[in-house]
Amino acid sequence: MKHIETIREMQSLALSWKRSGRTIALVPTMGALHAGHLSLIKCACQSVQLSGKVVVSIYVNPLQFSANEDFEKYPRDLQADMRACQEAGADAVFTPSDSLMYPFEEKSAHPELKHSTYAVEEALTQSMEGTARPTHFKGVTTIVAKLFNIVLPDYAVFGNKDFQQAAVIQRMVRDLNFPVQIIRAPIVRETDGLALSSRNAYLSAEERKSALCLYQSIRKMKERVSKGPLSTETLKSELKTFIEKNPETKMDYIEFFNPETLSPVSQAAPGVQMALAVFVGKTRLIDNDTL
Ligand code: PAJ
Repeated sequence: MKHIETIREMQSLALSWKRSGRTIALVPTMGALHAGHLSLIKCACQSVQLSGKVVVSIYVNPLQFSANEDFEKYPRDLQADMRACQEAGADAVFTPSDSLMYPFEEKSAHPELKHSTYAVEEALTQSMEGTARPTHFKGVTTIVAKLFNIVLPDYAVFGNKDFQQAAVIQRMVRDLNFPVQIIRAPIVRETDGLALSSRNAYLSAEERKSALCLYQSIRKMKERVSKGPLSTETLKSELKTFIEKNPETKMDYIEFFNPETLSPVSQAAPGVQMALAVFVGKTRLIDNDTL
């Protein structure tokens, strides 16, 4: 497995693979890899089969964090991540530095040369994570567009753990004609139902117990709507009470929506998508599923 740290080297490797007829699959990550990420790498390996190449990018993208978020303390463990990528079957790991990804972002004697081009999706980003974290998706779409131009993938794999993110990337690819096929992979969970997340590492033992309320909320809603459609307004207030009974929890949002358009619906029924964000202590967790 190759370890590539520069854009120039990554682009020329990708071009040489392309010239020799190889397909390339990219798995973009921010590292602190867990079984959820590894499932995406396995999915990438299957999509390109034996002759293709799988690239995992590991980059904690400053542009998608706002000033009050956890950019500085985001977990980083490159050695463990490299081992995990190798075992999962990746051909290359791409770990660029901030100064290579955003060279013109740094304080410079020439502010007029500052980075000033972004990829922005304007419809699917107007709710949920887009409202809770107003600059987040601009950072995500911009870094993913840059990674597509650097790694030149035929396929890129995203997890449904970040359901809205996957939908936004699919829309960007459609609207801007990126020659990339997006593959969406299912959520990997702990045995008790908690969705795997690099941020779970922040949770204390008591918070870890409280964190189960996200999955329990989804289970509860599935059961409730299996008996007939229900008003989402009623369900939202019911869920807020249910969630905030747990120590250290605060509901951020709960949304019921069409999984294709992300438009909110007023009635929850089987087939409707549900997503929620909850603060557990200082840690913000998200989860979602189809009812
Ligand atoms: P990160 O949070 O590291 O996630 C990388 C990919 O792993 C995303 O596609 C995410 O949905 C997927 N993933 C995370 N937890 C998962 C789980 N439990 N089951 C299945 N898939 C899971 O998402 C990002 O990084 C960044 O925004 C990125 C796309 C890399 C752009 O910076």
